[in-house]
Amino acid sequence: MHNLNDPQLLKNFSYINGSWHSSAGDIAVNNPATGKTVAKVSNAGVIETELAIKAAKDAFKAWSAKSANERAALLRNWFNLMMDNLDDLGRILTLEQGKPLAEAKGEVAYGAAFIEWFAEEGKRVYGDTIPAPSGDKRIVVIKQPIGVVAAITPWNFPNAMIARKAAAALASGCTFVVRPATQTPLSALAMAELAERAGIPAGVFNVVVGDDARGMGKVLTEHEDVAKFTFTGSTGVGKSLISQCASTVKKVSMELGGNAPFIVFDDADIDAAVAGALVSKYRNAGQTCVCTNRILVQEGVLAEFTEKFVAAVKGLSLGDGLEEGVTIGPMITAQAVDDVKKLIDASISAGAQLALGDYDTNLGESFLAPTVLTGVTNDMPIANNEIFGPVSPIISFKNEEEAIAIANDTEFGLAAYFYSRDIGRIWRVAEGVDFGMVGINEGIISNAAAPFGGMKQSGNGREGSKYGLDDYLEIKYLCMGGLDK
Ligand code: SIN
Repeated sequence: MHNLNDPQLLKNFSYINGSWHSSAGDIAVNNPATGKTVAKVSNAGVIETELAIKAAKDAFKAWSAKSANERAALLRNWFNLMMDNLDDLGRILTLEQGKPLAEAKGEVAYGAAFIEWFAEEGKRVYGDTIPAPSGDKRIVVIKQPIGVVAAITPWNFPNAMIARKAAAALASGCTFVVRPATQTPLSALAMAELAERAGIPAGVFNVVVGDDARGMGKVLTEHEDVAKFTFTGSTGVGKSLISQCASTVKKVSMELGGNAPFIVFDDADIDAAVAGALVSKYRNAGQTCVCTNRILVQEGVLAEFTEKFVAAVKGLSLGDGLEEGVTIGPMITAQAVDDVKKLIDASISAGAQLALGDYDTNLGESFLAPTVLTGVTNDMPIANNEIFGPVSPIISFKNEEEAIAIANDTEFGLAAYFYSRDIGRIWRVAEGVDFGMVGINEGIISNAAAPFGGMKQSGNGREGSKYGLDDYLEIKYLCMGGLDK
């Protein structure tokens, strides 16, 4: 039915302590493009979450005692297996999440790249020696894995968001329990199957799938044996998870919402800006935290940019992600479509104009046609909310100062983009925008070598890059005394 080369990659149970664990009841995983059920997965809950944490705790001693080289070899096996099974993993991802197959395979390769990256980076967990304040002492700093890591991951990147957390955790010597989104557990379970084939020992990587978000979330954030909690998702949910983590003073890292400005200055290469905005906005049907949320265009190039951009958006092909030639898939649910339509309608009532868009796609209730709104101002709902859908609001501005002020006028601070060919402006704007990641003449900024993360209410911590291990390590200072006797 699913046309997988290896049907064993489609799993229906949580993966705990190296075993597939069945529970009472199940969750239907539906294809957003067709509404049809792709698979049913056993519905785990609080008890299974506790079992997974126990397994991770028990596995920690042996895993953390392995050398970085030994862990790297197993992580590399996992990376190789992900790449060997790219077609199947991509297909599973499209079936449960909806993004076009080529984009789904791109996500699997992106996720695998974090495993490859951290397999290597784990070998470079350097300590330090520090000159002591007196001659009889020596100060040495070592870094050690923090312990059991718990994670909650979203449906928009069912593979890569797990890979980028788990790879850093495992490479550091930590063990890991993840609760993937209930809409998209199949990618997580396929990763578990490959982790097992790669030789990653039982208990080191655990996946618990269940629809009791509150109960399982409470265990993952409040359990005394969990040392660190990491989350990717909305700012609202992130805030309450952070407060739950306070009871045991857990280390937390949060990758939360965004409201990315995409600024096009008069001196920009307009064709390049159109191409950058298209990919930054409509990737994953607009459902990423770093998707362009507001397009800010300087008055002198507003007409040219808008005309070329609308033409480019018209060229996107909406449909079932498994169909040849489709470049933009459905949204995750009909509810998600309705939420975005409300933002569009409210902004049109407030004075925005519909330059492109059609509610009636005839494709199904989870589809929303790529939409462009002009005449938008920063106080409209489409601009001051995270859209998480395929809509581009275009806002005009007069000068650089105004562009920076509009860009920063949000509680979010994840990604920003701008296009300019003036080197002085490039530095002024790059330093002036309050965002953790800035794309300069570039619409796609995510990769394993770079630190992914936000400022303000977009979260804390960094994933990927040489900084990505820090969140999974404790710094321990050793003071050796009595050395002059
Ligand atoms: C996200 O939307 O949270 C992740 C996007 C990315 O990794 O590029």
